[in-house]
Amino acid sequence: MVVFIIAIYVYRMWYRLSVPLGCMSCGAARMRYHLHKRIQMTPVLELRGVSKRFPGHAALDGVSLAIHQGEFFSLLGPSGCGKTTTLRVVAGFEQPDAGEIFLGGALINGLRPYQRNVSTVFQNYALFPHLTVYENVEFGLRRRSSTGIREKVRAALDLVQLAGKETRLPSQISGGERQRVALARSLVLEPDVLLLDEPLSALDPALRKQMRAELKSLQRRTGITFFFSSPTTRRKRSRFPTASPS
Ligand SMILES: Nc1ncnc2c1ncn2[C@@H]1O[C@H](COP(=O)(O)OP(=O)(O)OP(=O)(O)O)[C@@H](O)[C@H]1O
Ligand SMILES: [Mg+2]
Repeated sequence: MVVFIIAIYVYRMWYRLSVPLGCMSCGAARMRYHLHKRIQMTPVLELRGVSKRFPGHAALDGVSLAIHQGEFFSLLGPSGCGKTTTLRVVAGFEQPDAGEIFLGGALINGLRPYQRNVSTVFQNYALFPHLTVYENVEFGLRRRSSTGIREKVRAALDLVQLAGKETRLPSQISGGERQRVALARSLVLEPDVLLLDEPLSALDPALRKQMRAELKSLQRRTGITFFFSSPTTRRKRSRFPTASPS
């Protein structure tokens, strides 16, 4: 009881002092509110000075960027500039030679891919050809021994408008539908960040336009942070919200 009273007293003293003094580091008026805001402002994904060398070639040279919760972050650049390498370093498929990667404020450099709550939609979708649409989406959840698998898979398939095609194999659906399966398979894992490596490049121009709009809408509806890579073209520059590594 005495400890409790002392704790209340200390808290009240701290609060009284903090309001008139404000934040010592940047002068915000109400430190309590300010601290709360600063916590929310922590990027969901941050790269600081990340470098990656392959034999005789620097693929990444001091890449720094910060992505906040719910953002659709587009990484645009010409072929060979390091887009895929950046995503692979974040996913844990490549180890950086220098620099730090933070996910949700925690350093993840040493973590294995399955220990990072990110999910990747690969350029070629990488679906299992012998598994049905349903089984492809279910696969990652089973590996995590998650609960409510059936409901989660159904919700993800609904989200990408594939309900009714659960029993088909990847060879029995269209290119656009295959991409939706790949999206559902990643979304169902509820990643902190969804990595999309040139997901539209395998589609014909009309489908690409449609999927571009669908991706944006999907990102808004789910609130999941998207980290998207795309080759640079003038037209694309004007269509996606963009941010480049600084
Ligand atoms: N495993 C590897 N071994 C050696 N060099 C590699 C390897 N992976 C990538 N590179 C090189 O690193 C550079 C960046 O490759 P990366 O795949 O990241 O480019 P990109 O921007 O994704 O290109 P694209 O738009 O063509 O997909 C390229 O010069 C590539 O040849
Ligand atoms: Mg690439």
